[in-house]
Amino acid sequence: MTQILSTLAESPTCPRDGNGIPRVFTEARGAFLTDVSGKSWIDFDNARGSVLLGHGDPDVAEAVARAARGEAGTATGWSPLLDEVTARLLALCGGEVVGLFRTGTSAVRAAVLAVRETVGRPLVLSAGYHGYDPMWSPAPGLLEPNADGVVDFFFDLGLLEELLRDRDRVAAVVVSPDHIHLSARWYGRLRELLAGADVPLIVDEVKVGFRYGAGLSTAGLLDPDVWVVAKGMANGWPTAAVGGSRALLRPLREVSFTSFFEPTVLAAAGRTLARVATGEPQKTVREAGDRFVEHARTALAAASLPVEVAGDGAFFQFVPAGRDVGKALWRAAAEEGLLFYKGDNQTVSAAFGPKALAEAEERFGRVCARLAPYASDAVVTEEARYAAAWNVLDGLREADRDRAGTTTWIGRLLDD
Ligand SMILES: Cc1ncc(COP(=O)(O)O)c(C=O)c1O
Repeated sequence: MTQILSTLAESPTCPRDGNGIPRVFTEARGAFLTDVSGKSWIDFDNARGSVLLGHGDPDVAEAVARAARGEAGTATGWSPLLDEVTARLLALCGGEVVGLFRTGTSAVRAAVLAVRETVGRPLVLSAGYHGYDPMWSPAPGLLEPNADGVVDFFFDLGLLEELLRDRDRVAAVVVSPDHIHLSARWYGRLRELLAGADVPLIVDEVKVGFRYGAGLSTAGLLDPDVWVVAKGMANGWPTAAVGGSRALLRPLREVSFTSFFEPTVLAAAGRTLARVATGEPQKTVREAGDRFVEHARTALAAASLPVEVAGDGAFFQFVPAGRDVGKALWRAAAEEGLLFYKGDNQTVSAAFGPKALAEAEERFGRVCARLAPYASDAVVTEEARYAAAWNVLDGLREADRDRAGTTTWIGRLLDD
């Protein structure tokens, strides 16, 4: 364990024990992981939602193995796989051009900088997480730009409306869609605001793209000029894509990097995209996830535990009434071998078949039994709901509030 801490210079996001020590896994198969002690876990983290088909998916593994043996192109140059991947992305997400990157962070950054260069205005209005990059660091004050000209509106459409009054200085709006805490009504209102403003929209669908269906999760809700996808496109392999308007993305036309043509990544993307194009994995995920969520809600209520479950089977989140019951929930889940993404969104994969689901439900029943000391008639407050949403969104949940309320909530949540 000491070795892990001294080997890594940074502190990457990964499952950790109660002392913050990374958990070490030695095997991953379908919905199940095995840790170094031999303990079995059911994975609701799935590499922060990027393993959509399940761990070690045989179809993807076979395609990757072929590519690794040199039977599907080469890192040296162009291959049929590259054409397949880009064609699939355009067919599924729309747009005129598409570019590939290695991480969601680099793809969103490239998309935003390209659009800003083309439009030639200084500000980018942003809502949501877009990756660990200094470009997204906090601004000195509400509605003020940070050093990179990024102004956060925290998903508050009143704030966005204020910022758009100065639209001659705005190059683009970039939003990371969420479907746990934002409804179709929110997207409708965003669309209206943008229609009147003549400002391009970039949707950062790194997390949600392909998880809700065979394309962008906001298809039919928004009409983006540029999109970014990543997690749903290669079952955990390192790739991301930017697509959309040729004119807006023109500054990216020479983008490349040494591993651009690397065939195992393209093979993983090609196979995963072929599968997600059918909509079948997403259907399985939704059904399995919905069943688990239903079970969890019933079990929590039967045990009088003050924990809500927000969202649906595609992405859901536990919303505990207070810190104590929240901490106890993570501890009990770990003891029972349920690997949750602490405080954040939970995801099942398409490998959650009947056996994994039954096992997960049984384990969750035991989690509730362990939480018996926390049974109470306490209710989940607005405060707890805002805090949970902030963890997932890096912004405010959709709710009716006035400008003073918005300022107060942002101040409180930033301080927390
Ligand atoms: C909405 C969104 N954008 C960007 C990123 C960054 O992607 P990556 O971690 O692949 O760099 C993430 C990662 O979770 C994300 O959820």
